[in-house]
Amino acid sequence: MSVNYSRSFRSFGSIALTLSLLVLAACGSKSDGDSASSADKSAVSTDKSTTLALGSDPAYPAIDIPPVWSSDGKLIQPKDFREMVFIGAPLTPHGLNDGKANFPEFHNVYVQPAAFKAYRATGKWPEGTMMIKELQLVDDPKGDFPDGSRVLPSGRGYFPGAVNGLDVSVKDSKRFAETNNWGYFNFNHAAPPYLAEAALKPSDQCAGCHIANAHEDMVYVDLYKPILDPLPTATN
Ligand code: HEC
Repeated sequence: MSVNYSRSFRSFGSIALTLSLLVLAACGSKSDGDSASSADKSAVSTDKSTTLALGSDPAYPAIDIPPVWSSDGKLIQPKDFREMVFIGAPLTPHGLNDGKANFPEFHNVYVQPAAFKAYRATGKWPEGTMMIKELQLVDDPKGDFPDGSRVLPSGRGYFPGAVNGLDVSVKDSKRFAETNNWGYFNFNHAAPPYLAEAALKPSDQCAGCHIANAHEDMVYVDLYKPILDPLPTATN
C-alpha cells in the first residue's frame, strides 16, 4: 500500500513538474512575444476549436447544445450530456431517510458549457438552458452497514455505483410560461438505456416543488454556487 502511494506520488510529482515547465514556457513565450495581441489571437483560436457554435438553434441564441423537440413537443434525450459541465452531486441516501428515500442516489447535475459561462457572466440562465440530473446509486455490494455506507481507504462513506435514471429541466419562456419558464422531464428512474424522448411532466409532479422551494429562477442554485463561482487566483 505504502509502495503504491509513494509510486503514485512520484509520478504525480513528475506530471506536476512537467506541467509547471509547460506553463513557464508558455509564460515566457508570451512575455517575449511581440505583443498582447498575439497572445489574444491564440486564446481566441483555442476557444474556437474547443467551443461549439452558439445559436445553432435561433430560438436559443446563447446556447451551444440546444434542447431538441419532437414534432409533438417531447424533449429528445440530450446527447452525451456527460460531456457537459458537471456542477454538483446532492445525495439523499436511504440510510438517512428511514430506508425510504424517493431518490436514494447521488444526483449528478450537468449544464451546457454556454449556459454555465452565461450564468457566470450575467447571473442568469439563458433561454434553452438544460439542467440535467443523472441518478447514480450508492454502491453497497456487500451490505457492509445497514445504512448503505461502506469503507474505502479514504474512510467510511457513501460511494457511487451504477447509474439509475435521468431527469431534465429546460428553460424556455415560450413553451413553459405557466411554470415560471421551466419545463420538467423524466427519462426513467431505472438503469440505462434511458427513454429516447420524454413528455412534459405535470406541474404537481415536478415544477410545483421547484416553484415553491428553489433558491433562484427554479434552480437549487445554492448547491452549485461553490462550483459555478470561478476559482480564486492560485497563491504560493
Ligand atoms: C418535492 C420537491 C421536488 C419535486 C417534486 C421535484 N424536485 Fe427536482 N429538485 C428538488 C430539489 C430539492 C433539488 C436539489 C436537491 C437535490 O437534488 O436533492 C432538485 C433538483 C433538480 C434538478 C437539478 C437542477 C436544480 O433545479 O437544482 C433537476 C433537473 C430536477 N430537480 C428535475 C426534476 C424533475 C424532472 C422532477 C419531476 C419528475 C422534479 N425535479 C421534481 C426538489 C423537487
